[in-house]
Amino acid sequence: MCGIVGYIGKKSASPILISGLKKLEYRGYDSAGICLQTAAGLELVKNKGRISQLEKDLAVRDFSQSRIGIAHTRWATHGEPSVINSHPHFDCLGQIAIVHNGIIENYQALKELLVKEGHKIVSETDSEIVAHLIEKFHQGDIEKALRRALQLLIGAYGLAVLSQKEEKIIVARKGSPLVIGLGKDEILVASDVPAILAHTKKVIYLSDGEIGILTAGGYQIKNSAGQILDKKIEEIKWTVDQIEKKGYKHFMLKEIFEQPQSIANTLAGRIKNHQAKLSLKTDLKKINRIIISACGTSWHSALIGKHLLESIAQIKTEVDYASEFRYRDPLLYQDDLLIVISQSGETADTLAALRQAKSKGIETLGVVNVVGSSISREVDSGIYLHAGPEIGVASTKAFTSQVAALTLLSLYFTQQKKLVVDKKIISQLANLPEKISQALALAPVIKKIAEQFKDSRNFLYLGRGFNFPVALEGALKLKEISYIHAEGYPAAEIKHGPIALIDKNMPVVFLASKNNLSAKIVSNIEEVKARQGIIIALANKGDKIIAKLADYLIEVPDSLPQLSPIINVVPLQLLAYYIADSKGLDVDKPRNLAKSVTVE
Ligand code: AGP
Repeated sequence: MCGIVGYIGKKSASPILISGLKKLEYRGYDSAGICLQTAAGLELVKNKGRISQLEKDLAVRDFSQSRIGIAHTRWATHGEPSVINSHPHFDCLGQIAIVHNGIIENYQALKELLVKEGHKIVSETDSEIVAHLIEKFHQGDIEKALRRALQLLIGAYGLAVLSQKEEKIIVARKGSPLVIGLGKDEILVASDVPAILAHTKKVIYLSDGEIGILTAGGYQIKNSAGQILDKKIEEIKWTVDQIEKKGYKHFMLKEIFEQPQSIANTLAGRIKNHQAKLSLKTDLKKINRIIISACGTSWHSALIGKHLLESIAQIKTEVDYASEFRYRDPLLYQDDLLIVISQSGETADTLAALRQAKSKGIETLGVVNVVGSSISREVDSGIYLHAGPEIGVASTKAFTSQVAALTLLSLYFTQQKKLVVDKKIISQLANLPEKISQALALAPVIKKIAEQFKDSRNFLYLGRGFNFPVALEGALKLKEISYIHAEGYPAAEIKHGPIALIDKNMPVVFLASKNNLSAKIVSNIEEVKARQGIIIALANKGDKIIAKLADYLIEVPDSLPQLSPIINVVPLQLLAYYIADSKGLDVDKPRNLAKSVTVE
């Protein structure tokens, strides 16, 4: 997601826009830009990097007379972070400027149409084509031109448009938020309230399909048919800090609850006519083995990727810690494919593993969240997660989006191998956002359980098959934010040592959702129960056997085993969060940790 701010009024626009962007930096921070309407026309200043750099670039010129402007801080979705890809974007003549938050799904087709008509499109972004579409239809009335352009767009947008000749800002919303702030002789527009709150608490939330025409003297809100609407003016009650987290206490909790949307974003445009749609260079006919290399949480999603690629696409798959892979001088063959998984795209060990494989001529594929990151630029092809910025150090929505992307990849390879694609997996994959919402509804139950264990000193997490990596991930979440020691194990493995740890003080989290090993997991629960271990069992609704054995029961929605990790991890994320929060710890910035480990 990106951050948009617009201002029109009696004050100098530039400082207001910059301070507004700073309040939205949590929405994206890889480049920023501003366009001001001045006597000389539309003046554009933009750069790669933080908003503070943009502020410096503005300070060397005098824009104090400009009263109208739009600004943008970017979270790249199409086109890597760079000056040319940063917003605002111009039309061919530099007389129309736009800032955009969202994804234009049909931008390639529109780009071809515009280029054929002679438009000069300079960036790699989907957003720039909106400026040229408005130019195509502009005959003096910017609102009319925008309306005609919007009729051609497929996808999501929050847009603000400025033209050189008209003292107004036109805004439009479909799928990406826009809020209008009503000040005294001034009007602001932004992606989110933090950018507005210093100027006014009176706001109007635009709804999908609505267009706003903002001038210093007032505003009009119209529907897609052009009728003027009488929208309700609301009063903001929150503080700025609360709002950046949308009322959540921590970014991590916000990101846990964003997962229905982030998964939907990962899948958007990638499931069509019961087929996985990916654009990858990889030709599976040339691939005999897949190796997946990653670190931390991404290594856990890699383990699930192995299960998916082998069970769905029947491709031999190995998983390796990147830090081990890079120093073992691995035995690699020309028909290997190395997949690297990384939320940040900057993890030093994973980048080194990638470079190691490339130096041996091995084809590489990335599963990455941050667009334009080092790993995303160095792989031969890849899948962006589109999960949006993940601010909390403990990875949550990136993990579930990684697993969703690996599921898509397994289906895509199955199609390439002309094997039969299991339509149930595809249809249930598309329904995942709903299932995750149901899992999130367990939050009050999880919070109650968490309160019982905030003083525990150890935890065990046990699972089998697809649920074993989920056990590892649940243990890591708890460790890294609550500082309680926790270990994940294949449930059957406890007999080979860890069972010695079981006593009446040991909470044991069992991932016991239905799969082909359900009867086995029951035996493992019995083994722990026989030694007074405390059983916290995650099971499917109505599973009476597990319910009888559990001291604490978490009932998750049913799903296919292949999709269960994405659902089952949600209660574990919440359990770790509520335990850490009940201990008063800094959940978003846990001690000793960094969001991206760019050193060895
Ligand atoms: C996960 O919660 C941790 N923050 C950490 O294990 C992380 O997954 C690991 O450092 C890998 O990061 P990456 O996905 O950005 O490469």
